[in-house]
Amino acid sequence: MHVRIGQEREDQAVAPAVMLDGVRWCDVLLSLLTEPVDRALLAANPALRGVANCAVGFNNIDVSAATALGIPVSNTPEVLTDTTADLAWALLLAAARRIPEAHAYMTAGRYKLWGPNLLLGADVSPGGSGRRKVLGVIGFGRIGAAVARRAIGFDMDVIAYDPHARTQIEASGIARWAALDDLLARSDFVTLHPVLTAETHHLIDEVALKRMKPTAILVNVSRGPVVDEAALVRALRERWIAGAALDVYEHEPAMADGLRECENAVLVPHIASATADTRDRMATMAAKSALAHLRGARAPNVVNAEVYSGDAYRARRSRLPPSQ
Ligand code: DGY
Repeated sequence: MHVRIGQEREDQAVAPAVMLDGVRWCDVLLSLLTEPVDRALLAANPALRGVANCAVGFNNIDVSAATALGIPVSNTPEVLTDTTADLAWALLLAAARRIPEAHAYMTAGRYKLWGPNLLLGADVSPGGSGRRKVLGVIGFGRIGAAVARRAIGFDMDVIAYDPHARTQIEASGIARWAALDDLLARSDFVTLHPVLTAETHHLIDEVALKRMKPTAILVNVSRGPVVDEAALVRALRERWIAGAALDVYEHEPAMADGLRECENAVLVPHIASATADTRDRMATMAAKSALAHLRGARAPNVVNAEVYSGDAYRARRSRLPPSQ
């Protein structure tokens, strides 16, 4: 088997021309979330047997084009659920307790004298007031549910919104269902975990941000375009909300103008699944799926499983030499 690696530099995504050349050459494409796999690319090789995305998210791939062309697309679910949920919590706590500001304060040598008002943050646990804080979870798939479970340790009340998982929320025992507007108005912390689709693009826009409490903190470890980032910058500057903690950006790796200057924003570079163990497991899962695509076997984590019963898939396979 031959493997060709398109990415030459760690700080540069694969150029579209290299992608096109690569896809013409290969039987299976193993892609990263930074690589757009559009209809033109998929159509460039009638012998392409599958796409194995090394990410749970697959918004970089035109899945409906892949299905129409008879190409299975797989992702890497489950192996990154806990790691990603942990980072959502790390961000939530960092924003609430102003950890990056406090770190910068120390490294700048500004700590001269302890004071009772030094770097005051927000309680996550009931704290002295005894008021249980409300965690609003938007998107109640595996990761949203894992984030919700972790709130038990902080004695929080968890409410969740997901139009595709109302039954799961109601049966979960860890969260109560809330309509989106209600969730935004009641939550002390709003954490985003929806799949990025046309329906969830800019789900958190100016109107949504204005519905949130002025003391609330927004956390996003899902996909950047779920949030209207320019509106978020206004919200942070004008204190419609207290803070935001982001792992993902609307036009990643770029950030909206003004975001980096917002001292009430905690910003990290899409590291939610970035532990050595999890990345190893994602890579292994993607490689196993790539082999399944190559052999014409059903990959267990195919996101367009309906492809296997379609005429386009049968026609494509019938043109290919037998499984290798
Ligand atoms: C994914 O797998 O979709 C994540 O965004 C990568 O950490």
